[in-house]
Amino acid sequence: MTRLIKNNVLFAALLMLFSATVAASGGGGLKQVNVNVQDTGALQRGAVEFVNNCLSCHAAAYMRYSRLGQDLGLSDDQVRESFLPANAKIGDTMTVSMSDDEAKAWFGNKAPDLSVIGRARGANWLYAYLTSFYQDDSGQWNNTVFPDVAMPHVLWNLQGIQKAVYHEEDDGYGGVHNVFSHFEMTSPGTQSVEEYEQTVHDLVTYLVYMGEPARIQRESIGVWVLLFLVLFTFVAYLLKVEYWKDIH
Ligand code: HEC
Repeated sequence: MTRLIKNNVLFAALLMLFSATVAASGGGGLKQVNVNVQDTGALQRGAVEFVNNCLSCHAAAYMRYSRLGQDLGLSDDQVRESFLPANAKIGDTMTVSMSDDEAKAWFGNKAPDLSVIGRARGANWLYAYLTSFYQDDSGQWNNTVFPDVAMPHVLWNLQGIQKAVYHEEDDGYGGVHNVFSHFEMTSPGTQSVEEYEQTVHDLVTYLVYMGEPARIQRESIGVWVLLFLVLFTFVAYLLKVEYWKDIH
């Protein structure tokens, strides 16, 4: 019986290890992007991109301008200058003047609040999404990661216009499928490919930060907590040796 329990525990532990590896390597073939929310430069550039290009349609109703300033090391005046819309106050959240009904009428769908999109979609998906807009044959915007998305490619002047190239693939059952192969730039933007990737990387860093602003502190405190635990384990061990020395 105990052996059975032992085997089960071992099996459960292996299963957990395996699922953690799968989760870590997952992402459906998306490019792995490492975002570092401690990189204040990337965060600042990403925040500027976000405010200038996304906030016209998407709100971030759980993010306050004042908090952004604190986390980015900016004074209230700098926040006012760089981010604040004319009619907003420093303690306001990042709301948007467009209503859901207007968004539906103009774009066919409402633009979701992006406060926690970094957590909902993850960095890899967001990066892939923002680099995968293309113009189809009828001149409409589309996206290979989010097909038929209602959002236009708002950063097209930076990235340029690309089209999607497909190749035919035999599905093994006598049918032929069109499978996405790669993008082809039809009209370059103001940024090079590398510059645009950097812009998107900054933007994704900002979106990930916004999903959990406390992450900046959490990560830096975490190191100290672990160091404390190591030190405390040592002290606790010495204490145990001291208490048990008369018994052994
Ligand atoms: C012109 C308005 C508009 C602008 C500007 C805009 N978006 Fe969107 N966005 C939309 C709409 C509308 C949708 C919903 C699309 C759908 O559901 O079909 C959307 C969807 C999204 C989604 C997918 C949300 C989901 O369902 O998971 C993300 C992520 C996103 N936008 C990010 C951004 C970012 C980042 C920017 C700034 C670079 C931006 N958007 C700028 C209109 C806009």
